[in-house]
Amino acid sequence: DMLKPKAQPLAGKKVVITAGPTREPIDPVRFISNHSSGKQGYAIAMAAVELGAETVLVSGPVSLAIPPGVQMMPVETAQDMLETCEGEMPADIAIFTAAVADWRVASEAPEKLKKSGDGPPTLRLTENPDILATISRSPNRPKIVVGFAAETERVSEYAARKLKSKGCDLIVANDVSKGSGVFGGDRNTVHLVTASGVEDWPQMSKDEVARRLMERLAQMLVPQQK
Ligand code: CTP
Ligand code: CA
Repeated sequence: DMLKPKAQPLAGKKVVITAGPTREPIDPVRFISNHSSGKQGYAIAMAAVELGAETVLVSGPVSLAIPPGVQMMPVETAQDMLETCEGEMPADIAIFTAAVADWRVASEAPEKLKKSGDGPPTLRLTENPDILATISRSPNRPKIVVGFAAETERVSEYAARKLKSKGCDLIVANDVSKGSGVFGGDRNTVHLVTASGVEDWPQMSKDEVARRLMERLAQMLVPQQK
């Protein structure tokens, strides 16, 4: 029935989603980043809005339109992203799709680095905070915490390891081996990993992954008799 309004199981609930890459400065004009498109995270934000959630999208720089109804929090570095997420707690559900840069330059140069006779500079890197693990272990922990893991091999085994080490409820393991739904594409092949096992989903569009995932999380948060 096209005229029947859609069920809004997440009305009155807050969902926080991280998306896109982070950008870690080297000097005022250069940075370290990655190829994350943000597509899966933005699709999840749209699906959360459709289910009636108050939806906050904490996003690194991407070239996507802001989904209607979403509260957008633009960030650049991993440290910004963590602080912004902490500022958005408490929430009912947090979903970490961002491709957070694992390392940043230990000390950002205050001025543009110049070529010199001594050859190229050596960048000293330091590890970024793990946003998912930090929120997942905070006193303000959302009721449901979801991580993503892009793997090229032993997909569900590595994902199960991350589920434990990061303390989340569910990992959406992304198969990024050749032909499976690589960075930037519109399709995705995922495996849902929880403490009770692995569920393999067929290849589908990122929009469809987003809708099915949000339906599942809504059902976990607010069980409905069906
Ligand atoms: N993540 C995060 N903060 C980080 C790194 C990762 O919040 N500093 C989140 C990602 O958003 C994702 C999950 O953790 O939801 C897994 O990210 P991934 O890069 O696969 O895990 P890492 O722990 O960084 O391990 P790897 O060495 O495989 O990159
Ligand atoms: Ca990583």
